[in-house]
Amino acid sequence: MAFNVAIDGPAGAGKSTIAKRLAKELDFIYVDTGAMYRGIALYMIQNGIDGNNEDAVSKEVENVNVSIAYEKGAQKVLLNGEDVSGKIRTEEVSAMASKTSAYKAVREKLLDLQRDMASQNNVLMDGRDIGTTILPNADVKIYLTASVETRAKRRYDEYIAKGESCDLKAIEEDIKTRDHNDMTREISPLKKAEDAIEVDSSYMTIDEVVEEIKTICKEKM
Ligand code: DC
Repeated sequence: MAFNVAIDGPAGAGKSTIAKRLAKELDFIYVDTGAMYRGIALYMIQNGIDGNNEDAVSKEVENVNVSIAYEKGAQKVLLNGEDVSGKIRTEEVSAMASKTSAYKAVREKLLDLQRDMASQNNVLMDGRDIGTTILPNADVKIYLTASVETRAKRRYDEYIAKGESCDLKAIEEDIKTRDHNDMTREISPLKKAEDAIEVDSSYMTIDEVVEEIKTICKEKM
């Protein structure tokens, strides 16, 4: 039987950094479900689809094939066969993904793919609805949070490190908007599963968070 760890939480809480590290240490496969939603969002941008138009997005999503491949342990997102891993980490894609991920057709498209991956592999899957909807029977469920200010500062530092110019206040506002979209949408809103363990990373280092979650996992393995 595959061992499944679900890590949910708001944008910028550190889910992917933590999950990636932990997956390596536990020798699990890391599945970044946000990247799949970003792949679909990128397709909509490239094809000039209005993200506010649910009918148009739902129709177009039939033409999208998102899959995940692994190369030397790193996850690659394939959009209709093309590796788009580098193209999905922009504010434009973030904003589009926040809108399109609220639509039923988009979520249904990814649900089976995510469940299949978890049934066949020991996975550490991160997202918004993994513990509540995708893997309600996950062996470990973590709800990873951090304050808006901390999350905005982390995103800001990431952009600066990449040499991109950005505005801290604008990032903060963007995070608040995305939190609101993710938490108030009708289908699979972001919320802590009843049986999830909450970890607030605001004042913790990456190492501390990894250690804490690893200890929780080891107790259940
Ligand atoms: O984690 P992220 O920022 O890469 O996610 C991109 C968007 O996709 C974000 O607006 C929330 C959405 N998402 C979702 O609705 N459900 C998931 N399981 C993962 C991400």
